[in-house]
Amino acid sequence: MKMIIINGPNLNLLGSREPDIYGRQPFEEYFATLQQEFPGITLHYFQSNSEGALIDKLHEAGFTYDGIVLNAGAYSHTSIAIADAIAAIRTPVIEVHISNVYEREEFRHHSYLAPNCVGCITGLGLRGYELAIRYFL
Ligand code: DQA
Repeated sequence: MKMIIINGPNLNLLGSREPDIYGRQPFEEYFATLQQEFPGITLHYFQSNSEGALIDKLHEAGFTYDGIVLNAGAYSHTSIAIADAIAAIRTPVIEVHISNVYEREEFRHHSYLAPNCVGCITGLGLRGYELAIRYFL
């Protein structure tokens, strides 16, 4: 099985970015533990701060991978283009948010992506990525 985690803008700063909300662990470190936890699957990771690069990666992975775990960051609340990309590909996508977006500002309560995803995990911290992988398995 082949899966990919795609992280969007500002998630490259996990570990130092607003640690009270997002925790203190750099994503690369967490990703290494995930790979150890799931030795039987090919697990890739991609991060970009650019909307176009995220769409290109969805197109690239979206016909050959078995699952995509996507945290599009703030683009979740703004991007019709990423929503269209999810609708255009074949691979199922799970939307993940580290924080509980529903206990935060109102503009974070709406996701353009959610209707095109198989499901959404929000507020469970980095564990959300692991749970998404388990769902696909
Ligand atoms: C986030 C929530 C978004 O509202 C925010 O813009 C992010 C991170 C999360 O993982 O909790 O960048 O997607």
